Amino acid sequence: MPAKIVTVFNQKGGVGKTTTTCQLAGTFGWRGYDVLVADMDPQQTTTSWLTNADEGYKFPATLWVGHHYGNKVTDELKILSHKYDLIFVDCAPAVDNPSTWASLLVSDLAIIPTKLTPADVTALPAALELAKKARIESGFDFPVRILGTAYRKNRADERMMLESISNNARYPEFTVLPIQLGDRVAFTRAMLSGATAHSMPKPGEAIAELDLLADSVCELLGIPTEKAE
Ligand SMILES: Nc1ncnc2c1ncn2[C@@H]1O[C@H](COP(=O)(O)OP(=O)(O)OP(=O)(O)O)[C@@H](O)[C@H]1O
Ligand SMILES: [Mg+2]
Repeated sequence: MPAKIVTVFNQKGGVGKTTTTCQLAGTFGWRGYDVLVADMDPQQTTTSWLTNADEGYKFPATLWVGHHYGNKVTDELKILSHKYDLIFVDCAPAVDNPSTWASLLVSDLAIIPTKLTPADVTALPAALELAKKARIESGFDFPVRILGTAYRKNRADERMMLESISNNARYPEFTVLPIQLGDRVAFTRAMLSGATAHSMPKPGEAIAELDLLADSVCELLGIPTEKAE
């Protein structure tokens, strides 16, 4: 079976694309899957994350730096898909970046992370529209899901934003995932340590959130929650 490909993208910067990609990829690595993380962003935040691990730590996924490939990313991912179980693609903050489009064309799932501020939510349609076009172009109606990130559920304004995107009538198929990643120090610290939240001293709810998110991804991809022996 070729790898399932999950593209994590958004037009907006700083919304948690890299955090979502690396934390999820690592979570699947800990679950026994052979995971590739594709860095499509010239900023190379994912590359730094996976190559600057704290001493004695090994990130449970392989890195592929793909942003130079532009629209050839489609073919490269197809080739790489024969070597891994899962590929998580971290995109640059631009829906007009050729590698975002190229990755969506071979995706089994697209995740659009967003923070719950008005500016972030207003930018969402650009990403949703691109996903819609990619589904038509590829001829495959891969699932598209929105993920709330750095969510502060004690904040009424953020709860309202979440509700408003959950009730978005314009893209009824592109629903919001049932779990959000909370605003947690463990996510930020893990990025600095080249690790996942699982290895942080006080991860709090971070691990439970990642597990629920990974379970949702498994359901959408139709794969077991742990790699079968
Ligand atoms: N769930 C979270 N809890 C706490 N901080 C978070 C969370 N998600 C993201 N952040 C912080 O927000 C900032 C941006 O996150 P990240 O780099 O993942 O976003 P991005 O969308 O990949 O950004 P870019 O567009 O620059 O690539 C980082 O400082 C990160 O630590
Ligand atoms: Mg990033």
